[in-house]
Amino acid sequence: MSMHGLAGLLLGFALLAAPAYGQNLAGRWAATGSALANGEVQKGILDLKQDGDKLSGTLQSLGFINDVTGKATGAHFELWGVGWDDPKPFLVGDLVSGELQATQWGDRIVAHKATAADEIPRPAYIEPPALHKVKSNGLAKTPPMGWNSWNLFAEKVDDQTVRTMADAMVSSGMRDAGYIYVNIDDTWEGVRDAQGSLQTNHKFPDMKALADYVHSKGLKLGIYSSPGPRTCGSYPASYGHEVQDAKMWASWGIDYLKYDWCSAGAIYKNDALQPVYQKMGDALAATGRPIVYSLCEYGMGSVEKWGPEVGGNLWRTTGDIRDSWDSMMANIEKQAATAPYAGPGHWNDPDMLEIGNGHMSDNEYRTHMSLWALTAAPLLAGNDIRTMSPVTKSILMNGEVIAIDQDPLGKQASPVKNGDLETWIKPLADGGVAVGVVNLGSAAAQATVHLSDLHLARPVAKVRDLWSHQELQLLKDSYTATVPSHGTLLLRVWAH
Ligand code: GLA
Repeated sequence: MSMHGLAGLLLGFALLAAPAYGQNLAGRWAATGSALANGEVQKGILDLKQDGDKLSGTLQSLGFINDVTGKATGAHFELWGVGWDDPKPFLVGDLVSGELQATQWGDRIVAHKATAADEIPRPAYIEPPALHKVKSNGLAKTPPMGWNSWNLFAEKVDDQTVRTMADAMVSSGMRDAGYIYVNIDDTWEGVRDAQGSLQTNHKFPDMKALADYVHSKGLKLGIYSSPGPRTCGSYPASYGHEVQDAKMWASWGIDYLKYDWCSAGAIYKNDALQPVYQKMGDALAATGRPIVYSLCEYGMGSVEKWGPEVGGNLWRTTGDIRDSWDSMMANIEKQAATAPYAGPGHWNDPDMLEIGNGHMSDNEYRTHMSLWALTAAPLLAGNDIRTMSPVTKSILMNGEVIAIDQDPLGKQASPVKNGDLETWIKPLADGGVAVGVVNLGSAAAQATVHLSDLHLARPVAKVRDLWSHQELQLLKDSYTATVPSHGTLLLRVWAH
């Protein structure tokens, strides 16, 4: 699970009961947390052992359990999550009058010794099924395109946001540019009723009506769940309810499922990834409705090698993207190793787009779009389509760049680095290629593309620069351009 997911789980501990216990930090500490949109309240149980100044133990919350490690200086303590890749402690505080009074990622929390009433029930283990091949659903012949709520709206997404976003997908031209899926990410979930049927929460009063509305706009609707008991945001998920949930989504008219590992990691080891994802692949197939199946398990267990076997149309190759150059580039570099496994119906997914969210420069966003197109990545916009600027539109709706992404051959480019310049070449169905030269440096640089290096089977017929929208004169074998810092020279080359 991502740091973001964990942060969401743990925010906002508060008061429970209060006996006082000296200076020893060892014990089982409980706190309640923030309210979820479905009326449930987050919980946390910190189980600590102390050996001199060393602390160790676990932190449990709804659906999750994580090892923690830390140090104590008298009554003061600092705790880190094991494997969270964060140099800063997530919890810093003091033992005061038998309470842990602490700051957790900036929020004040108070925890008390846990009682039986605080326990978080652990769901029974369900054996994963035996492996078999799930028949391909025939969808996603080219990388899926659309919009997803998470990157900008996170838990603030609701019915009205989705409706107005669907309207904007049409009025902005996004739909006609190919962005068809409108995908609701985490936090739509309510609780299960007596029949085990998962309700929506108050933000989504009628999901079937919402699907009808989105469909009436010529768009498709996506939804989100986890194979664990809880989503990454701690909402109820599909563990033990796979068939029931898939049937319900199909009855609503859902066209796309993002299925996020999250709390399945508290139940299964990585050797269960394939059968667990297969279970939902089977459940979706059994509905008879065409539903794009998006696996989200951050690239674990070489998913690119078995994703199609479980009926997957795309799978994440990385952790969560953030709206920054370093995060975007780290994700695309990680995607590179998976290149041989992309193809029609099954795609490597370096996560959704951040274009237009405001923390990268226009050149960086052009590079983001160029690299996602060159690597045949799904194009799921993550910005506010209702208010996007002309520049954002010109990047997301550059039809020639979209055509590179959507090329029917479905090849994924790989990078070759030369100093600050990184070149990505993508073979295209008509025998031509797309070539991207990214300037990783902090100053503008000269990039030269030698057409003879492209090893085309036939002579070059035409070359276009897809960001300056100019056809190039074919007087020489090479084309040189000045590429701004973090920008990309993106050429489309046609062969005779
Ligand atoms: C994980 C996923 C994200 C998003 C959140 C929702 O972190 O990787 O893309 O779906 O969960 O909680």
